[in-house]
Amino acid sequence: MRIPLIAGNWKMNTTVAEATELVHDMLEKLDKIEGVDRILCPPFISLAVVGELLKGSSIKLGAQNMHFEAKGAYTGEISPLMLTSLCEFIILGHSERRWYFGETDEIVSKKVKAALSSGLKPILCVGERPEENEAGRTEEVVSKQINCGLSGIASCPDIVIAYEPIWAIGTGRAASGEGAAATIKFIRTCLASLWNKDIAQGLRILYGGSVTSNNITEFVSQPEIDGALVGGASLKAEEFVSIVSQTAAIKRQPV
Ligand code: PGA
Repeated sequence: MRIPLIAGNWKMNTTVAEATELVHDMLEKLDKIEGVDRILCPPFISLAVVGELLKGSSIKLGAQNMHFEAKGAYTGEISPLMLTSLCEFIILGHSERRWYFGETDEIVSKKVKAALSSGLKPILCVGERPEENEAGRTEEVVSKQINCGLSGIASCPDIVIAYEPIWAIGTGRAASGEGAAATIKFIRTCLASLWNKDIAQGLRILYGGSVTSNNITEFVSQPEIDGALVGGASLKAEEFVSIVSQTAAIKRQPV
């Protein structure tokens, strides 16, 4: 059984004071929801503060990016070594990193390796651009991202995949539940050929892209979809709590 997971990616939003307030606003309700792993991914500068606030709760912490080297002359970068004492999860290969900051599959793969060898749990993001989607190239694009991103990596139950079609991120134009589930099913077949069927069945694959409290059930009612990576809607306490509690209710039902 795969434990459902909802992660909030706050992106480049919230000052330390705002991050503190946001956690205060959601902590009590979020902590009580059972049956779903809940992860908050604030900006680097708020990791320590948010980590303190989450202490003693069941909510986990993640970062949004990292360098693959442990240390060195990389001005402005954050290393896996710096993160291990602060958080458990790390979002890698987010499309905003790939397209605004030129992260290639090779770089993403180095980051996944570095995360796993440092004991961080990677949330590897994949997804196609609008023109690739329109040209029917979704499977080709995500299989390349999966195969390159995970090449040379031994299977690990801690790896989480997030399928985030770029045309759906921050646009208010989410994929359909069925469409997302079909691509996620395909991603599982890629993981099965990379490792094996049992491992692929055990790994969690999330959907991301304009998820809100109004459409979350469409995604999590699909057995293939194990949860969501939520951007904008994770910045509103009530909205995020609602997304998590609806997921818990749906995934609790016997299929
Ligand atoms: P969104 O972002 O929910 O704001 O579309 C999702 C993401 O980029 O992870």
